[in-house]
Amino acid sequence: EQIEKGGYEHFMLKEIFEQPKSIHDTLRGRLLVDEGIIKMAGIWDNLERLTKAERIIIIACGTSWHAGLIGEYLIEEFARIPVEVEYASEFRYRNPIVTNKDVVIAISQSGETADTMAAIKLAKEKGAFVFGICNVVDSSISRFTDAGSYTHAGPEIGVASTKAFTSQLTILSLIALKLGKHNGNLSNVEFMRLITELDALPKKVEEVLSTTHDLVKEIAKDFVDAQNFLYLGRGYNFPAALEGALKLKEISYIHAEGYPAAEMKHGPIALIDENMPIVIIAPKQGHYDKVVSNVQEIKARKGKVIALVNKGDVQVANLADYVIEFPETSECFSPIIASVPLQLLAYYIAVKRGANVDQPRNLAKSVTVE
Ligand code: G6P
Repeated sequence: EQIEKGGYEHFMLKEIFEQPKSIHDTLRGRLLVDEGIIKMAGIWDNLERLTKAERIIIIACGTSWHAGLIGEYLIEEFARIPVEVEYASEFRYRNPIVTNKDVVIAISQSGETADTMAAIKLAKEKGAFVFGICNVVDSSISRFTDAGSYTHAGPEIGVASTKAFTSQLTILSLIALKLGKHNGNLSNVEFMRLITELDALPKKVEEVLSTTHDLVKEIAKDFVDAQNFLYLGRGYNFPAALEGALKLKEISYIHAEGYPAAEMKHGPIALIDENMPIVIIAPKQGHYDKVVSNVQEIKARKGKVIALVNKGDVQVANLADYVIEFPETSECFSPIIASVPLQLLAYYIAVKRGANVDQPRNLAKSVTVE
């Protein structure tokens, strides 16, 4: 096992550090920047069916569901196809309205999650075309869906999903851009700009790992005894906040909630005092000014702010108690970069609490029963 961990203390840390490679592997052979194309067999063979969808329904559980939420933002922004995101466990039991004009995208790292499988069966019975995004090759879901794309993130051993998540976001970005280009919603210039940025992500993730690792490890020391955590973000980074909170609760057993930053005033603000740590994701692109005022509101109530900002940020950085900088990219790709320090934060808090990060209590890597 020590050899498999490649010198890292846990699989989770190894997998966090593998992300420049896993994202690169997700893009490999698919993103051809010089030729200005995205080449994906699963999409290519079904391009008409996908671009003509009246609606796309994304179904998933856990972390994959968070990826699905970001997928909704991506597909609606670039392909202008209406998207709904559902928990597989809810979808399967509520007699949902699904027709043969719908396309279902099922996301599952393991490809074995029982609720997701049951939801796919139901969608197929109702005539939908089902496209799978799985990591495990030849898994049940990848075999049962009508078409699909593998994330190719490599085996993920840590129960808390890390590299599979960023690869799911990468695949969803490819799909959204490909559909948007094909149905004419994305201009050539815009498409080229976005694929060039997508291509730069492995390098930026490598950069964020090397520039934030030691800092996040230090910051984690101050929160070992925290009882609660709040994670906030807007737009594309709202689901990133949900995922950041999920990572922390899964492995450290600290209660954590993710919220859209603007919803803070409708509830969580009541909880804020000097004992409430608040992680806020505030990249330059993405309602920055609004997030600045959220940070001011938090500081007025003495909350402890850990801010994730772009390199060189001044405004939020001046207000925050802790500042973690990450490289700039388009808002739509920022969760791929911002998630990395959030994974590290959860990891180091959990390690310092003595928790078993690779095998958290009560959790399973894949939930094959209801
Ligand atoms: C379990 C795992 C999570 C995962 C979820 C969905 O709860 O612990 O990490 O996100 O199942 O799994 P899937 O394999 O379908 O993505």
